[in-house]
Amino acid sequence: MTSDIDVNDLTEAQAKQELARLADLLAKADIAYDKASPTMADADYDALSQRNSAIEQRFPHLARADSPSSKVGSTPTGRFAKVRHAAQMLSLDNAFSDEDVAEFYTRIRRFLGLDPEVEVALTAEPKIDGVSANLRYENGIFVQGTTRGDGTVGEDITANLMTISDIPHRIAGAPDLLEVRGEVYLGKADFATLNQMVERGELLDENGKARKEKFVNPRNAAAGSLRQKEPKETAKRPLRFFAYAWGALSAPLADTQAEAVARFAQMGFKTNPLMQRTISVEQTLAHYAVIEAQRATLDYDIDGVVYKVDRLDWQDRLGLVTKAPRWAIAHKFSAEQAQTILERIDIQVGRTGALTPTARLHPVTVGGVVVSNATMHNQDEIERLDAREGDSVVIQRAGDVIPQIVRVVMEKRPANSAPYAFPTVCPACGSAAVREENPRTGERDVVRRCTGGLICPAQGVERLKHFVSRKAMDIDGLGTRQIEDFFGRHMLREPADIFTLAARHRDGTFNVPGTSDLNSYKRLAPTKSAPERWSAVVTNQKSLDNLFEAIETARTRPVDRVLFGLGIRHVGEVTARLLAQRFETVDRVKDLGAALAQGDEAVRAELVEIDGIGETVADALASFFGEARNGAALDRLLAQLSPAPVALPTAEGAVAGKIIVFTGTLEKMTRDEAKARATAMGAKVASAVSSKTDMLVAGAKAGSKIKKAQELGVQTLTEDEWLDFIGAVPPL
Ligand code: IVH
Repeated sequence: MTSDIDVNDLTEAQAKQELARLADLLAKADIAYDKASPTMADADYDALSQRNSAIEQRFPHLARADSPSSKVGSTPTGRFAKVRHAAQMLSLDNAFSDEDVAEFYTRIRRFLGLDPEVEVALTAEPKIDGVSANLRYENGIFVQGTTRGDGTVGEDITANLMTISDIPHRIAGAPDLLEVRGEVYLGKADFATLNQMVERGELLDENGKARKEKFVNPRNAAAGSLRQKEPKETAKRPLRFFAYAWGALSAPLADTQAEAVARFAQMGFKTNPLMQRTISVEQTLAHYAVIEAQRATLDYDIDGVVYKVDRLDWQDRLGLVTKAPRWAIAHKFSAEQAQTILERIDIQVGRTGALTPTARLHPVTVGGVVVSNATMHNQDEIERLDAREGDSVVIQRAGDVIPQIVRVVMEKRPANSAPYAFPTVCPACGSAAVREENPRTGERDVVRRCTGGLICPAQGVERLKHFVSRKAMDIDGLGTRQIEDFFGRHMLREPADIFTLAARHRDGTFNVPGTSDLNSYKRLAPTKSAPERWSAVVTNQKSLDNLFEAIETARTRPVDRVLFGLGIRHVGEVTARLLAQRFETVDRVKDLGAALAQGDEAVRAELVEIDGIGETVADALASFFGEARNGAALDRLLAQLSPAPVALPTAEGAVAGKIIVFTGTLEKMTRDEAKARATAMGAKVASAVSSKTDMLVAGAKAGSKIKKAQELGVQTLTEDEWLDFIGAVPPL
């Protein structure tokens, strides 16, 4: 088989045969990928692409017209060609406090064995919140530009980078080979302009269709803009670039970091004007303060200050630990704050009846994101803050989390303000809203809940939304708008109704029997203008067909998804899976719940014996199934479904039984997916690090959990180490 022969040992005939095989294989993989049903793992795809390129290098005359490597840059399929970096693209360790910075100095001195009187100079510059890129110049000509990817293999986005005016196509005074590295970013003002273009329908998404959603922040907008199929589309976006580092080089640039960056400026690159050389901890921290003070008024987002050892010979000696250099660190800013007016406190009613206050704010920009809502958690929190409508408040946004109110600016409180009165009746159905006492601890619940249960329309809508959500039954085409619309038209009341929609549509019997006793959903009662219409939001046959098809597919969703979808309190994804694995069918869980509700102690003991399930879950199941109407609704639902069995966990797998915590931003997969995989292998996923934790998997921008893990001696893995550990190939 030619596939087994090392590239260097291939004869010409074999090489030709092998190139044909690879072209065919990669083309098929591309097609499958584009249909969103990939047949090949990323790593395999990369290995085959590299093998193809290596053979072409040995036998250039054999390169085929349809060679996979000829797709580089043009990428008609939407997949960007993978490129192995000539020099790894590193990430940075973080410092969160002055002490962390002092330790950074100490580590450097210790590693280099420096005497106390020897000065350690650093450069200190803003950490730009954008997307890093590698620009390869050969003989002064820009030949290839790539994304960072996983640091080892990036994607070829040359054509898109070519459209950025800060990136010169030709440079003078550079070594023959020079890879310039830096950050592609979008200014705050340009970001606002871009979102106006989205509103006017002037931008396309990554698939070439009109983009509908606004970008959430400048970084996401920059990343999305670089991943466009059409460079024309990228060119519409005013991306910019700062040069701050380098990769492969044919000759050294300078003796120091500062001089090297100065050379970039001479070559015509933009370099950050706030970069400064500092020669002591005090100077470094003072410059940090200078940059932090300017943060709000800079026209681009930054999220910290990067310090780098200035002497390049020292950088070489210091080298790196796994993927981050010892000679650099990112000193992160604490959460960003802003002041604005708390215009109103709205109460939202959740699926379990929880009344959650949301602060409606006068819109204000915090770290490049316009914020108009903030969470207020609960009644106690409002009382603690003494927040009143009309108050000036300080809000804070840390990373991508929902903004919070930190404090009220009392000096600015209007004279006529009155304390906020938290409602004691449900704003959606008028039932009493109460704070229950926990029967075990005697403590009053922090959450006030509507007691309307099944008659509360807000809870009904939220329960349905949860039931169809991605991690539950995953029914496409049945989103918030559709559910509210159907609910308002009395066509949907409970999960079972979803599965009779198609039949009722066929028969023209729209309403769910028995809905007349239900308070109609206030905002969305059937409109007079279109009383007989099937729906105000699913209006054409095609979307109706798609919806019905999605519903059909959902009939066989596995047992754990169904259990999770029921929205029983304290039964999250993990618990639902545990229950499904132990009791196998929804019916058996239902019987169990009924027995619990009857006070069957033997059943309770059997349940809480399951690792990961405790009294709280037992109580929740008892109270859910103790309500006869819930049991009946579940029976109606089960009559419509044939849930697939769940897979049992692999007992001897490396992670079975381990307690794992994920933190930071994972790059190869979403946090949800990582959790799901770990759980599927029998691990337990926890959210906080404790002495019971077996492993902490820390992605990028991980924060305090790493420290905690170190203190507790908990094993900490990077994302890649974790993937190695579980023997997983990262998904496409
Ligand atoms: S230096 C050897 N300097 O931060 C270190 N990185 O967490 C190479 N970044 O992937 C990076 N501003 O995308 C460096 N002034 C700056 C930076 C910066 C932003 C990003 C970059 C990198 C990430 C590392």
